[in-house]
Amino acid sequence: MSTYIDQPYKIKGLELKNRIVMAPMCQYSVEAKDGIPNDWHFVHYVSRAVGGTGLIIVEMTDVHPDGRITDYDLGIWSDDHVPAFKRIVDEVHKYGAKIGIQIAHAGRKAEDAEQPVSPSDIPYPIRNRENIYTPPRKLTVDEIKEMVEAYKEGARRAVEAGFDTIELHGAHGYLLHQFMSPGINNRDDEYGKDLAKFGVEVIEAVKSVMPEDMPLLLRMSAIEYMDGGYTIDHALKMARRFKEAGVDVFHVSTGGEGDPGSLRPKRNPGFQVTYARTFKEELDVPVIAVGKLHHPHLAEAVLGNEDADLIAIGRGMLNDPYWALHAMKEITGKVTPPKQYVRGIR
Ligand SMILES: Cc1cc2nc3c(=O)[nH]c(=O)nc-3n(C[C@H](O)[C@H](O)[C@H](O)COP(=O)(O)O)c2cc1C
Repeated sequence: MSTYIDQPYKIKGLELKNRIVMAPMCQYSVEAKDGIPNDWHFVHYVSRAVGGTGLIIVEMTDVHPDGRITDYDLGIWSDDHVPAFKRIVDEVHKYGAKIGIQIAHAGRKAEDAEQPVSPSDIPYPIRNRENIYTPPRKLTVDEIKEMVEAYKEGARRAVEAGFDTIELHGAHGYLLHQFMSPGINNRDDEYGKDLAKFGVEVIEAVKSVMPEDMPLLLRMSAIEYMDGGYTIDHALKMARRFKEAGVDVFHVSTGGEGDPGSLRPKRNPGFQVTYARTFKEELDVPVIAVGKLHHPHLAEAVLGNEDADLIAIGRGMLNDPYWALHAMKEITGKVTPPKQYVRGIR
């Protein structure tokens, strides 16, 4: 019987040994508040490489200090960040895993920024640990141009650090999402009339510093949950423009933009798979499905039924750094762990 989860996959020049992706997950662990990854990040990512993961996506990493959710987030706004990322990348590669980085700006969801910025001055409506989000200031057009440049510079540094791919964070209510959301972006200039404009400019800028054969991933929220939030039709309309601008793979999530109120999803296993499948069918692109897929047979079914090309695991990998090895063993009955662990895992 053929299996899917353990099969290699190639997108442009990115060759993965299996279909398993580690979802980006903020660690909020930069104690020095300088955005530079430390030993925690090194051990965290290298462990998942040892654990057999095909593609690791490093957590939300911000292109500006004020683009961090908290001061403890990773950053890529300076060349000083490059060596510590390179150390992680080089070690991960030793175990046959590929590694990408999620480049982002939190916009109005920046909790520690003195003055968060956003396409408009509408505040994020949910209370945080400090009990309230500082209302954002609306970016000027000149600042938007600088922001595009910041994403580009972040991508240039990621390439310099040796990452195999880049994922732009366009989901969960962060800056790229804020621009494409009709409920958040109320600008009356060109960046409000054309909700895809900022995303397209960022994608084109980032692509201009990436090697030709390196794929660009974009994480998007396929639907919003807030009152008056956008539906999948709007997300697809945006995604078509983003594909045209250079996105090679869509990583399909949902929500994160505001107060879900009565629309709060039930979060059953595989609850977002249907959106991944719709993106795949409508856009004819490779997709990554994510969201409660950590039961190996469910992950295998999503791949086998061609709902998605790759599956991403988040919390399942926090629970078990060797999730990939264990899942492949469960599905295929055999697996090749690092030789040091053969007596435990095979
Ligand atoms: C601790 C934690 C941190 C997260 N940080 C990020 C992040 O940096 N970027 C992102 O796009 N999603 C983030 N997420 C969402 C995950 O990538 C993933 O989409 C979500 O956890 C659902 O997948 P799961 O059910 O396999 O955990 C985070 C989730 C967790 C649990």
